[in-house]
Amino acid sequence: MDEIELRAAIDRVLPGVRADLERLVRIPGIAFEGFDHSQVERSAEAVADLLRGVGLPDVRIVRAGGQPAVIGRRPAPPGAPTVLLYAHHDVQPPGDLTEWRSDPFEPVERDGRLYARGAADDKAGIMTHIAALRAFGDTLPVGVVVFVEGEEEYGSESLETLLREYRDDLLSDVIVIADSGNWDIGQPALTTGLRGIVNAFVEVRTLDHAVHSGMYGGAVPDALTTLSRLLATLHDDNGDVAVAGLVRGSAAPLDYPEDRFRQEAGLLARVELIGTGRIVERLWAKPALSVLGIDAPSTGEAPNALVPVAKAKLSVRIAPGDNWKSAYEALVAHLERHAPWGAKVTVTLEQGGEPCVVGTSGPAYDAARAAYAAAWDGVAPVDMGIGGSIPFIATFQELFPGAEVLVVGVEDPDSRAHGPNESLHLGEFARGCLAEALLLAGLG
Ligand code: BES
Ligand code: MN
Repeated sequence: MDEIELRAAIDRVLPGVRADLERLVRIPGIAFEGFDHSQVERSAEAVADLLRGVGLPDVRIVRAGGQPAVIGRRPAPPGAPTVLLYAHHDVQPPGDLTEWRSDPFEPVERDGRLYARGAADDKAGIMTHIAALRAFGDTLPVGVVVFVEGEEEYGSESLETLLREYRDDLLSDVIVIADSGNWDIGQPALTTGLRGIVNAFVEVRTLDHAVHSGMYGGAVPDALTTLSRLLATLHDDNGDVAVAGLVRGSAAPLDYPEDRFRQEAGLLARVELIGTGRIVERLWAKPALSVLGIDAPSTGEAPNALVPVAKAKLSVRIAPGDNWKSAYEALVAHLERHAPWGAKVTVTLEQGGEPCVVGTSGPAYDAARAAYAAAWDGVAPVDMGIGGSIPFIATFQELFPGAEVLVVGVEDPDSRAHGPNESLHLGEFARGCLAEALLLAGLG
């Protein structure tokens, strides 16, 4: 099919794609512990049905001890390449329901955006693949392997085993990962690097048991003050991460105007930015360290007692070129070395994931540039980094060294993935569907 036919075909399939996206987001498939995993099963079944519906002859639900993934395959026409299309069907928990303007699992359209948990991250990714496949019907010019995993938001623990187990079924020439975003509305992007991640807990203990804060306060350090002092050592006065030994790289030459950035982040008027260097460098090419939570007595219930033990959850985003094990060691060394007042500091790992660099010099990348520019009516895509993580991209790259990886997606700066009121920009979604169809045509 040529570009004109594909445009018409995408227009034709879009209403059905939208309806199926709404059906998918009504299934609250959350892989986190403590959530109803039968919903993840339902969501895998729904994805399998969609893949059967586009005529893939070989669709299976697979697992390796974790949540179900779906693999659908269709062999390549003679001489054509095979393209692996990746997305994930699990979503983040909805969080605080009172912050949502509408039910997170009941899609609602407002001002051209579809609001629901997973509408953007990453059920839009699944439906982008489905849209492209539907547009071609049985004239698909390439072989495809669709791989939709079910525990990306929970760290993809069993993914590596799964990839190894199904290696032969997943073999492909090009891997298209639809789980990222564009630079702005109207400005497409190809993602050329992602940060990795190290999540860890640090526990500080100063006392064997809680004691009266009047009797002992003044001479005995409480664990919460001690933990706070320890956390305060993690950044220097500029707000750069102070942990020694983390990699710092350089980022794409994109300008992220400070006022745009502040507005998109929702930063309060007089709050300063932290860190140094260009904004995109801080986001994509330098480490970031955040405190995600603290276990300590809550203020409403805290007695007049010295807290014996307190624990924080830390999250380090590590730059492309770093690796999570050495970053974790650097973090542990820092925390142990800076233990205030001789407190007992215990660090435990929650999860680690590698950063990645995505090449920009292969034929698939060129085909993607052309397809995205056409879908956005002549606006060429920019190369951008992402501060978030998709750790298994590194695993794909290692397991399938011959395949060219492309990272794309339909999130935009206002998608609010992981937060309340997540949404998908429907106009950009339509362009993303067309771009993927054009890309498959180009690769064919
Ligand atoms: N879709 C995101 C990755 C992403 C983040 C793309 C920001 C574009 C902008 C992905 O689903 C995600 O959130 N990944 C997790 C990985 C973690 C669980 C290992 C993340 O970055 O927190
Ligand atoms: Mn995602």
